[in-house]
Amino acid sequence: MADLIVGLQWGDEGKGKIVDLIAHNYDIVVRSQGGHNAGHTVVIGDKKYALHLMPSGVLNPNAVNVIANGVVVSPQKIIEEMEKFDDIEKRLFISNKATMLLEHHAQIDQARERLRGKNAIGTTGRGIGPAYADKISRTALRMEDLLDVDTAVKKLADYFEMNKGYFEYLGINIPSLDEMHKELQFYQSKLQNIIIDTTKYLWDNIDKNILLEGAQATLLDIDHGTYPYVTSSNTIASGALTGSGIPPKKLDKVIGIAKAYTTRVGNGPFVTEELSKEGDYIRQKGHEFGTTTGRERRCGWFDAVAAKYAVTLNSCDEVAIMKLDVLDGLEKVKVCVAYEKDNERIDYFTNQDVKPIYQTFDGWEHSEGVTRWEDLPKNAKDYILAIEEMIQTKIKYISTAPDRNKTIIR
Ligand code: IMP
Repeated sequence: MADLIVGLQWGDEGKGKIVDLIAHNYDIVVRSQGGHNAGHTVVIGDKKYALHLMPSGVLNPNAVNVIANGVVVSPQKIIEEMEKFDDIEKRLFISNKATMLLEHHAQIDQARERLRGKNAIGTTGRGIGPAYADKISRTALRMEDLLDVDTAVKKLADYFEMNKGYFEYLGINIPSLDEMHKELQFYQSKLQNIIIDTTKYLWDNIDKNILLEGAQATLLDIDHGTYPYVTSSNTIASGALTGSGIPPKKLDKVIGIAKAYTTRVGNGPFVTEELSKEGDYIRQKGHEFGTTTGRERRCGWFDAVAAKYAVTLNSCDEVAIMKLDVLDGLEKVKVCVAYEKDNERIDYFTNQDVKPIYQTFDGWEHSEGVTRWEDLPKNAKDYILAIEEMIQTKIKYISTAPDRNKTIIR
């Protein structure tokens, strides 16, 4: 059976810490969507690694890691990440059906963002959207194409020929056949032994403990998020099933992850954004700068309407609230309980231009490092209990500092 960890906001909720906390319970850890736009930092011994494509199961020497069919895989990036781990070929598989992301995808992504100007989405510039676009257009290479480089180069040459005008328009150089051949041959030499049918592998191992590790988050979902300011994959629970081939009834527990406040990188609607000193306080105290791009994150209050929408879409069984300690020291803390537009109250998440209706809570001083529910300040407890009531889902984990052990498990 599989459990799923999914982000409930716009990403960067701290999924990595919860995965780290529970990863030892799992035999197999699976990435099922997104690509190297995701980013998490893992600490092994005294070394810190920034990972983008590699599933977090690398933390556990006994776990097998799977990059499943729904992921867009940059062979170059995964090879770079593999080099950090000694025996990784024995515990990493990549789906033959996963889409291959190549350098020109990143170039298209960046050129299109430049052309969009002030309407730019604020992508990570990694080529995620263009790679998924090729998948849907049925012109992408898949990872299985690395097993026959001559045919792959022919497909790629046809692809470039078909898109010649577009590449000229975007000012992107098309690589020569020779360059393509060399590049793909190199990838083949490094990856051919770990490219398998991961759907079958997961079915064969369905009785083991499998963890699906979501990337990005619910409000960035291509269908259900704040389109067009979203990523290019289905980030929600059903996307994890499509992206891995795990049958729906084999999904057991869904754990939703949210911060005690909200952040977003990139452009797009953000109803509870604080451009005030409170927003700055959260950014500085929470070190809200991107792992993948280093960009400053936009910060604001917890949006319970969005969180309720997200727990419903994902059918969350339990929720983890992260970084509660970042709110320590604020005099008042707000939660958005509904929206307002043209003097009308809206109780449902929407992509329209709406204003927040807030409930204000008294702040607290010290939640940092607390590991027992009884030891939380009363106002912090009231805040958590109120959110639990609003989202109608059990808040099982509360994180009070970056360290794995600084977590309240209720
Ligand atoms: P893309 O996924 O690079 O196309 O970027 C689309 C949007 O998703 C942008 O707003 C990005 O900042 C955002 N995004 C993509 N990946 C992540 C992530 O892992 N965390 C937070 N935001 C992300």
